[in-house]
Amino acid sequence: MTLDVFATPAAIAPGIEKTATAVIDVFRASTTITATLAAGARCMLPAADVEQALRLVEPYRPDEAVLGGERDCVRIEGFALGNSPGEYTRETVAGRVIVFTTTNGTAALRAVADARRAVVGCFLNLTAVAADLAGEPQVALVCAGNQGRFSLEDFTCAGALAARAVWRGLGRTLTKSLLATDHARRLAELGFRADLEFALRVDSAPVVPRLADGRITR
Ligand code: MLT
Repeated sequence: MTLDVFATPAAIAPGIEKTATAVIDVFRASTTITATLAAGARCMLPAADVEQALRLVEPYRPDEAVLGGERDCVRIEGFALGNSPGEYTRETVAGRVIVFTTTNGTAALRAVADARRAVVGCFLNLTAVAADLAGEPQVALVCAGNQGRFSLEDFTCAGALAARAVWRGLGRTLTKSLLATDHARRLAELGFRADLEFALRVDSAPVVPRLADGRITR
């Protein structure tokens, strides 16, 4: 598995069309999207702006679709719901189409429109998204950021997801995958194959070596 983490959508490198991508906007769009689907919404239609949201909602009966989203963090005038996950309950969304527009989150979703496939990640669905990405050969995690800037909450979530996805992806075939790396091959050629196998015995020596005052002790 190769894995890239992009701190903002503007940082996305060429080649996204080959990747399985997760978009992360912890505060709050990806959290709200996840909560909405967990509450039983039929689907969500991300819209670039209010005008597009109004166009997307038009074909539906009033009881079929709901407008949700924010600008400057507050509910858009005329929209039924804002961007608080707690608003998206079974009562408000179950069985309905949610047309949704937010400042950073839906912009990040648009930025991955060409990805081979895209999912939405947050702390709520961390393990499920990691499992979903684990078998992928090429993964990109795209943080929505805030107004084009780095967001610690998105980057932290991306880190947690990266750790879980890589571990799950390699866990079952850990030895085989890591014995195939360049460095492992070189060591094997030099006769150190046993060292490689020793190094891959996960949790076989539960001590914590500490470096202090020029000494390493347990
Ligand atoms: C966004 O997508 O810009 C954010 O989710 C903003 C917010 O917290 O409402």
